Amino acid sequence: MMAPILEVQNLVKKYGDFTAVKGISFDIKEGEIFSLLGPNGAGKTTTISVLSTLYTATGGSATIGGHSVFAEPMTVRQIIGIVPQELALYDDLTARENLSFWGQMYNLSGKTLATRINEVLEQIGLTDKANQRVKTYSGGMKRRVNIGVGLLHRPRLLFMDEPTVGIDPQSRRAILDSVKELNRQGMTVLYTTHYMEEAQELSDRVGIIDHGELIALGTQAELKSQVGQNETLVLAVAETDDPQILADKLKTVPGVLKADVIDHTITTITPDAQGIISPTILLANQLGIKINAIDIQEPNLEAVFLHLTGRALRD
Ligand SMILES: Nc1ncnc2c1ncn2[C@@H]1O[C@H](COP(=O)(O)OP(=O)(O)O)[C@@H](O)[C@H]1O
Ligand SMILES: [Mg+2]
Repeated sequence: MMAPILEVQNLVKKYGDFTAVKGISFDIKEGEIFSLLGPNGAGKTTTISVLSTLYTATGGSATIGGHSVFAEPMTVRQIIGIVPQELALYDDLTARENLSFWGQMYNLSGKTLATRINEVLEQIGLTDKANQRVKTYSGGMKRRVNIGVGLLHRPRLLFMDEPTVGIDPQSRRAILDSVKELNRQGMTVLYTTHYMEEAQELSDRVGIIDHGELIALGTQAELKSQVGQNETLVLAVAETDDPQILADKLKTVPGVLKADVIDHTITTITPDAQGIISPTILLANQLGIKINAIDIQEPNLEAVFLHLTGRALRD
């Protein structure tokens, strides 16, 4: 077992009277991709901001590479790279100039900096566009420059805060692939997201965060086993019909443990998905609700969140 590069114990962060992070504990092993998965407002950005020394903690302890985040912030900053949720780029500068600016902030200069910028431009796939102004870039390209800034000083641990929010599917694909490639080359990553698909694709381990608490922590297999031996039956309801009416009725069917609505789908958790298909169709017919598709799925991280909170991950 690899040693942890990051260890967090009972971390608390208050904003005035409001407690945004309520005593969370987890560690990240060298070489891992660890995801913090949780809905908007769960406390992901607050956690990352405290761990990256941007905000002070209210309580608890955290070490990175064996150094206290709170007592030795300057040392910790050398070890970590930060890709914040908000872009910090100058639109009138080129990608190369932006990287140069941030590189100097990290005390890089001269030939070392020039070489490093070229390497990073390769890593983020922007070598060809490096001399164009950032204002001509797509949202996804800007995101990639943002990632490049986080990589300049060769961090051992990269913090990425929802790096795919608000960009097109193609750029999202490029970013997810580059996270995997960086990890393959040895980078440890703390990745936050509210998209369970991303956590599923990337993570070795996942912490599920909700209302400032870590409500589950483990490998994906460990988390999915929390849903038990249950199966997930997913019903796609016609857009013109109200799925909630059917979901409420389904909750009264024997064997249905949960039936929750997300958009026009009903996700049902049950020990016997096959066995509840007939009663489901019967109920839908009685209520005059049209089901467009029925699918039996293995429990995914969305089902885990639903199981633990009774709510959907997305707003
Ligand atoms: N600077 C702040 N002052 C007061 N409350 C804040 C501040 N930043 C975040 N919050 C609140 O803390 C909670 C967690 O926010 P945040 O860490 O941004 O969550 P996430 O990144 O998971 O969406 C939210 O309820 C948010 O409104
Ligand atoms: Mg956030």
